[in-house]
Amino acid sequence: MKILMVCLGNICRSPLAEGLLKSKVDKNVEVDSAGTSGFHFQEPPDSRMIRTAKKHGIDLRQIRSRPFVYEDFARFDRIYAMDNDNYNNILSMAKTESDKEKVFLILNEIYPEENMGVPDPYFGGDRGFEEVFDFLDKATDEIVKKIGHG
Ligand code: 4NP
Repeated sequence: MKILMVCLGNICRSPLAEGLLKSKVDKNVEVDSAGTSGFHFQEPPDSRMIRTAKKHGIDLRQIRSRPFVYEDFARFDRIYAMDNDNYNNILSMAKTESDKEKVFLILNEIYPEENMGVPDPYFGGDRGFEEVFDFLDKATDEIVKKIGHG
């Protein structure tokens, strides 16, 4: 099973989603993350996100930002978008029904059919990062229930 987490910059939300899910599954589950933009290509996660994750025992320091590419549809079984913009941008790159069927909005795992987005914490204060942690901790618990530990 291969899972890809996608946000805009791949420096805040999706690296945390990657780190959280990795901490909950074994090595049979491959987890990666990407951004719909390449603005932060090869940068590590935002220092505020690294700090928030570390407080909860998750180490994000090895992650480097990369853009989502068409080949990711073939490489991954499930692609989780953090918000509606990411979701629509990913779907706009899909070419086949099989591509489209792999794309999900991550908070629909805990709030089915509500189509809620994980709030973008980039321009806010530290509280936003804790809120993102809380949402993604719960959502990744649900994903583990669905796919198993690996
Ligand atoms: P992310 O947050 O999509 O959760 O990584 C953002 C990071 C950077 C920017 C926007 C959102 N930016 O505009 O540079």
